[in-house]
Amino acid sequence: MQRVESEIARLIEEIDYDAVSRLFATLSGGKRLRAKLILKIAPNSPEAPLLAAIVELIHGASLLHDDVIDDAKTRRGAVSVNASEGSKIAVMLGDILYSKAFSELVSFDKEIAKIVASSVTALSKGEMQDVKMADTFNDDEEKYLRMLYLKTATLIEAAAMAAAILAGKDVEKHGVYGKNLGLSFQIIDDILDITSDEKTLGKPAMNDFVEGKCTLPYIYLYHALESEEKKKLLSLHAKQIDKEQTQWIQEKMQEHGCVLQSFELAKTLSNEAMHAVAEDKELVAILENMIQRSY
Ligand code: FPP
Ligand code: MG
Repeated sequence: MQRVESEIARLIEEIDYDAVSRLFATLSGGKRLRAKLILKIAPNSPEAPLLAAIVELIHGASLLHDDVIDDAKTRRGAVSVNASEGSKIAVMLGDILYSKAFSELVSFDKEIAKIVASSVTALSKGEMQDVKMADTFNDDEEKYLRMLYLKTATLIEAAAMAAAILAGKDVEKHGVYGKNLGLSFQIIDDILDITSDEKTLGKPAMNDFVEGKCTLPYIYLYHALESEEKKKLLSLHAKQIDKEQTQWIQEKMQEHGCVLQSFELAKTLSNEAMHAVAEDKELVAILENMIQRSY
């Protein structure tokens, strides 16, 4: 991973703007899941660290924009750039990182450049759907999963496919792996929003529903409730809710096994991902660690 960090540092330096270097230095790199995947799939490719750096810059840019869109005050346990520097700076920093990543991407094989570039269109479509879907309570599981695929899984899928091309491995199988890992990862993230505390999350707990996001446990809960209770859940959607209301949601979810049901789907998707790359023990281990994260 040191090679990826060095590539990222080199790209930031090449931007040649002190304000960007200083701001970028304050950002937490996060788990670097996408970069790790690329290095695991294409460990011997000399181009893999640069590809990983590009994908991490795109991901970082998307989070800067996402925090503006969500009006998030924190990111990865620290104050978000939009909160500390204002939305204008956060948007522009995102644009700079994103365009720098793209100027590097064009030096790659056309097929790789196309896969990564179109995944960014997909993730932007997913983000737009996410915003629109938060306007009203969404109880449609399929619609939710389609949005999740676009918003979170496409860049992971693209990273896995691009790395497979670099390594001369099966592109389709690695795509299936990346897609299902991405979906499973996001579902677990949605579960953790409900089951973890603020300290562990690095952002406020139970915040998705306040932001209007009806994640899987909420969709399952809605379908399990009696009609009066359904009305109550709908009345709480996209509002600041108090302790008692939060507790009511959590108790009802517990009663109807909604978190468990969501976790079962995450496990099924994870198994599909494992199945696609069963012979690659390291890729399987990434999935196992991810599932463990939710305990
Ligand atoms: C986080 O979702 C958001 C994403 C994974 C994608 C955001 C995508 C864009 C803003 C469009 C692409 C833009 C560029 C510049 C590449 P979340 O809000 O559910 O997760 P969170 O809890 O981590 O904020
Ligand atoms: Mg967000």
